[in-house]
Amino acid sequence: MSGTSLPQPIAHPQLGALQFAAMEAADLDAVVKIEQAVYSHPWSRGNFQDSLYSGYQAQTLRAAQGLLLGYFLVMLAVDEAHLLNVSVAAAYQHQGLGRLLLDQATAVARQHQMRSMLLEVRESNQHAAKVYRRYGFTEIGRRKNYYPAANQTREGAIVMSLPL
Ligand SMILES: CC(C)(COP(=O)(O)OP(=O)(O)OC[C@H]1O[C@@H](n2cnc3c(N)ncnc32)[C@H](O)[C@@H]1OP(=O)(O)O)[C@@H](O)C(=O)NCCC(=O)NCCS
Repeated sequence: MSGTSLPQPIAHPQLGALQFAAMEAADLDAVVKIEQAVYSHPWSRGNFQDSLYSGYQAQTLRAAQGLLLGYFLVMLAVDEAHLLNVSVAAAYQHQGLGRLLLDQATAVARQHQMRSMLLEVRESNQHAAKVYRRYGFTEIGRRKNYYPAANQTREGAIVMSLPL
């Protein structure tokens, strides 16, 4: 996380002071718990460990008393940031936290001189796609059969990009 500065606590109207921090191994119990609750095909603990080991930009968002609300992971590649994962705990969605996570993920990417941010989203994940579109991401393509889906089937991805 070298070269990445963290913002001051953010005042949320309902949830109080929220704080971003670098994701660490000690966060992974709580991270994996949220991950398993919000995805049909969650990342494993090993996926997160590998990401931290690889030096990806990874941050948590916590409430003042320490409760984990969400997290993101970004891979920096030349001049393009790839948003690998952005998640909000189920009970705290629809309160603007997704947008806060995107604000911080894009701020980190800009701090590292990235010129755009790329992401993939399942074709069926309309809530996330809508949040991304409202944020300014536009569809640049599709990847067929990108994700595993129910009953041994596959599902396509919408590829979206945001200039930074
Ligand atoms: C996708 C995800 C990260 C979005 O996070 P979120 O916290 O629900 O997103 P936001 O709250 O910022 O935005 C969602 C809605 O809340 C609304 N909202 C924003 N601030 C609000 C507030 N203070 N009070 C009430 N509603 C608010 C937004 O306008 C938006 O409305 P819309 O859906 O009608 O456009 C989250 O739903 C999630 O973790 N989903 C499961 C994992 C996942 O699919 N991740 C993405 C994989 S590609």
